[in-house]
Amino acid sequence: MQEAYKHVAFIMDGNGRWATKRGLARLEGHRQGAKTVESILKVAPSLGLETVTFYAFSSENWKRPEEEVNGLMDLLRFYFTSQLNKLKDNNIRLVVMGDKSRQGRLSDDVIEMIERVEAETEHCTGLCVNFCINYGGRDEIVRAAQHFADDVERGLRFVGDLDERLFSTYLDSGLQKDPDLIIRTGGDQRISNFLLWQCSYSEFRFIETSWPDFDGEQLKALLLGNQTVDRRFGAV
Ligand code: FPP
Repeated sequence: MQEAYKHVAFIMDGNGRWATKRGLARLEGHRQGAKTVESILKVAPSLGLETVTFYAFSSENWKRPEEEVNGLMDLLRFYFTSQLNKLKDNNIRLVVMGDKSRQGRLSDDVIEMIERVEAETEHCTGLCVNFCINYGGRDEIVRAAQHFADDVERGLRFVGDLDERLFSTYLDSGLQKDPDLIIRTGGDQRISNFLLWQCSYSEFRFIETSWPDFDGEQLKALLLGNQTVDRRFGAV
């Protein structure tokens, strides 16, 4: 089956090394990385993409120095509050994947900000942008399993109802289309607990360029080189 890429997901790696190489604080790499996100959002619709997903803060990133964690949270606060109107003007829907529960590790003001941006862009029918924040692929699957088990216990579901489609509705991504392509910048070749359920049939590109040096034009060149994807989903 030949089809164009509709959903591209990004592991935005190499920010810290980009900054250190230039004698800057690691946070400067993340700030520059946020500009790469903007550059990608600008070109994504013209490339025929319907969804883009960014791995912004993993459930393991809490282990980083407090200053870096706080800096990343401030960057997210600034980005979401300053870009909300721009997202709406451009008909962009924003979805945050990850543990957003009040019992989780995100602070209340960040959770409220996420809820606000999600609610205010819910009606947008253009590009869908997923931000993975406090996200881990295994954690997402465990939370989905817990939620399903709760529904069984409350008599809302039967165990026998469970199939892949129903399970997907319990995941953060819901019934969104899986990523066709996952791009990891920064030279490492691993999945780092990203979209473990959703990547079953995805293609992968691992590129040396660090995230702050990547941009929409490079994405365009990369996609034009692989314009269509021929995946057989196990068939011949
Ligand atoms: C990994 O690089 C990157 C992160 C942990 C954070 C990514 C976040 C952003 C780019 C900013 C969020 C975007 C917006 C729009 C607010 P690394 O720090 O592990 O790099 P290294 O491997 O070189 O140390």
